[in-house]
Amino acid sequence: MDETIAIIGLGRVGLPLALVLAEAGAKVFGIDISAELLARLRLRQMPFLEAGCQALLERHLDVNFFPGAELAAAAEAGTVVITLGTPVDEHMNPIFSHVEVTTRRMLPFLRPGTLIILRSTVSPGTTEYLRRIIEKTSEFRVGRDLFIAFCPERIAEGRSLEEIPIIPQIVGALDPTSADRAGALFAQITKTILTTDARSAELAKLFCNMYRYIDFAIANEFMMIAQQHGREIYQILDLVNHDYKRGGLKQPGLTGGPCLYKDGFFLVSKTPYAELISTAWKINETVPAHLINLIKTVVPLDGAKVAILGLSFKKNIDDPRNSLSYKARKILHAEGADVYLNDPFVASDPLEKVLHRADVIFLATNHDQFRTLTLETIRTLAQKDAVICDIWNLFGTGRIIFTLDQILGPVPR
Ligand SMILES: NC(=O)c1ccc[n+]([C@@H]2O[C@H](COP(=O)([O-])OP(=O)(O)OC[C@H]3O[C@@H](n4cnc5c(N)ncnc54)[C@H](O)[C@@H]3O)[C@@H](O)[C@H]2O)c1
Repeated sequence: MDETIAIIGLGRVGLPLALVLAEAGAKVFGIDISAELLARLRLRQMPFLEAGCQALLERHLDVNFFPGAELAAAAEAGTVVITLGTPVDEHMNPIFSHVEVTTRRMLPFLRPGTLIILRSTVSPGTTEYLRRIIEKTSEFRVGRDLFIAFCPERIAEGRSLEEIPIIPQIVGALDPTSADRAGALFAQITKTILTTDARSAELAKLFCNMYRYIDFAIANEFMMIAQQHGREIYQILDLVNHDYKRGGLKQPGLTGGPCLYKDGFFLVSKTPYAELISTAWKINETVPAHLINLIKTVVPLDGAKVAILGLSFKKNIDDPRNSLSYKARKILHAEGADVYLNDPFVASDPLEKVLHRADVIFLATNHDQFRTLTLETIRTLAQKDAVICDIWNLFGTGRIIFTLDQILGPVPR
């Protein structure tokens, strides 16, 4: 790949992409304001877990991957990719200022002919808005002097290297030349390019995430309904899905993370009747409180010792952003419990210490490592009749709330 590319924002999306492009032969400037992140990269250390990226970093750092803090590096690039965070504020309104401010600041550095690729997840209409900013604040005309396309990232964290080459790349542009140029760039690292207009691409990305989020929400709602009827969802899940081609009901779980919890608000802010998305958020965000209410029916929480296992928002990764584990901790504290945290990928206390004499074990994340834990081991460390909350069915009991006694029988005297 004979290209010089600047990537602005070397987070979970930007850094793996930078390394994939470097591996494909591009000269890549990575731009980030985090001194801590840049220092880690200078030490040739990945700042987060992402399978295969450590080797790519070691191979390409200072060879064809050049991280730094200066936006001026964009001047050398024929393509600039924006992978900045797009969070929501305390009223769940999308915050777009990082992307907007960076676009305004980088404009003076850009050469005519530069292609800008917006890869952050954004509200519908944002690419058009960026064009307006560019054309109001510079002499550039999009489609003539500068080119712009929205090319969303759809990988699952931790699996970027595996998924970037195989997930069809949606390319949404405002003009044909921008579409062609962005498509040609991604065609060098991925198999299939799906070309469309920018707004359709923005909607497609958000619909992908919300479809999954609603899927998880209905699984969580069905769990709650089954419990009202004195039934466990896991038995019913099997009845629904077993050899049934129109099945596919997801299992319940804690559904948070930096994308799913907020991306719906990029859609609902202008659509008051988007109740399904808002309701999915309410259901998913309520799961920790719902489970804790159930635990309270078995054991008083005031003064109890509770072990939360799993802090990252999903299994086998080290990203705790917007993880519902922390919401559970907050609720448990309010109930008067002493809460201890363990996660094999996130800085926390050792498992043995966290389980020691615990009254309640709350399995918040379904890390594979927790599958090696047995109820017998827990009994040797925790209270003999500890209450387990296992929404993921990691112990395979098919029950979400149970005591060790109920599964293992009482401790022999
Ligand atoms: N994390 C995911 O799995 C995922 C998947 C698909 C899409 N997305 C979307 O991609 C975007 C980026 O997500 P992320 O998880 O990589 O975010 P992130 O917070 O991990 O990364 C953002 C990076 O930008 C840097 N940054 C902030 N302001 C900057 C500035 N002014 N100039 C240069 N760098 C700056 C930060 O230091 C950080 O390293 C978001 O819009 C997100 O919704 C994320």
